[in-house]
Amino acid sequence: MKGFFITFEGIEGSGKSTQVGLLGSRLKEEGYDIVVTREPGGTRIGEEIRSITHGRENVDLTAVTEAYLMAASRAQHVREIIKPSLSEGKIVVCDRYIDSSLAYQGYGRQLGEKEILELNKAALEGVMPDLTILLDVSCETGFARRNGTDKIDRLDLQQKDFYERVYRGYHLLAKKFSDRYFVVDSSKEIEIVEGLIWERVEGKVGKNPKLR
Ligand code: TMP
Repeated sequence: MKGFFITFEGIEGSGKSTQVGLLGSRLKEEGYDIVVTREPGGTRIGEEIRSITHGRENVDLTAVTEAYLMAASRAQHVREIIKPSLSEGKIVVCDRYIDSSLAYQGYGRQLGEKEILELNKAALEGVMPDLTILLDVSCETGFARRNGTDKIDRLDLQQKDFYERVYRGYHLLAKKFSDRYFVVDSSKEIEIVEGLIWERVEGKVGKNPKLR
């Protein structure tokens, strides 16, 4: 494919949305043809799926249903947005992609990495990221940022095991797919993280004049 596919990954509170926004703006300023999108979501149908996966009332959603919904959103997203944009030579910046399913459903929900990849095969259509930026913060920092306080309540504590598994899952994936992963210490200041990401992205896309 002609374009370049960048995905952002990380646990809650890792500063992902901020960095996706900053990278998107910078690439635009520098004259690149880009698409910024997210999962679950990114298409009309995907956003409808997101309202199910994120709906507070859906506490009875099973792990397997969740896995299929994430894959369903991805199938629509790849076909409607990601694949066509890459074919047109654009840079696609996506807030979460397959690695979120591997980390959250595969490791967090313990459905298995191999099993989740298999379940996503048809959705992916062979489209894998060229660069995956993992924003690395400890679960404690992530929780504290998310709650805007250092106090972690009972519910957060109950979920802690889950997030610890997701965290470890991401690190296993980063090791396994070291050729496409870039791990950034996201406990650093926003500007420092932004600079590190820009250096890496520019190193990859700057050499390709066709992306502008
Ligand atoms: P976010 O948009 O705030 O990052 O929230 C997305 C949530 O959905 C987050 O908790 C991670 C979860 N998620 C999965 O569990 N599996 C997936 O495949 C994706 C894309 C997201």
